[in-house]
Amino acid sequence: MKQGISIAIDGPAGSGKSTIAKLIAVKFGYLYIDTGAMYRAITLKALQQGVSPQDEKSLAELAMGTKIVLRDEKQDKELKLRVFLDEVEVTHQIRSLEVTNNASAVAAVAAVRTNLVKMQRQMAAAGGVVMDGRDIGTVVLPHAELKLFLTASIGERSRRRFLELEAKGVSVTLAELEEQIRHRDFLDSNRQVDPLCQATDAIFLDTTSLTIDQVVEKIIELSLEKGAALDVCN
Ligand code: CDP
Repeated sequence: MKQGISIAIDGPAGSGKSTIAKLIAVKFGYLYIDTGAMYRAITLKALQQGVSPQDEKSLAELAMGTKIVLRDEKQDKELKLRVFLDEVEVTHQIRSLEVTNNASAVAAVAAVRTNLVKMQRQMAAAGGVVMDGRDIGTVVLPHAELKLFLTASIGERSRRRFLELEAKGVSVTLAELEEQIRHRDFLDSNRQVDPLCQATDAIFLDTTSLTIDQVVEKIIELSLEKGAALDVCN
């Protein structure tokens, strides 16, 4: 029996998907699945093994023999995601600039996607999930009860990412970041396989001038309409 609805959140880099998805998952006591973290983990492994992000054959083999585990941990009503690649924790490593800049090329390889999409569907099979990515509403969970497409202006998305990186002590200029995000958006939206695209039945939310709380409130309202029940402990 399904233990709750499936909520699919798609959108470009910096649209606030993961921040929002984690907060929603806590509210409903759902599992949070960050599919971007899985593409990042495969990218990290390829970089560690010296496999070029353009070498499709080797990437396909690499993806087949890889174990990725996502572990949600709740600390004071806040959800933290830990990522394990072949049993080794890579939570922080997968956020490096090198991984970020190569993830879109790795994610464009069809065999990599087939493998990860299969894992993602298995992880979501019991229901009660919030999954975020680029192709969740269109490919991974086409029957999700609630689909959202989050976006924001490129300026706002770059500013959000800049603040995030600044807080981590990473030095990068706003202009550099905007260029990287534009490039990644272009690759993600124009690849042959499962490009970033709004599902026809997804609800479009422009978060440019909305606070996180406003977006979360809106999504809670929509989820309740679709049959989700709030977790009484949160
Ligand atoms: O958090 P951010 O928006 O920077 O990216 P992410 O969600 O961590 O995803 C990293 C990269 O993985 C994206 O730029 C996409 O190329 C790829 N990705 C994908 O192709 N399909 C998904 N479902 C999720 C991520």
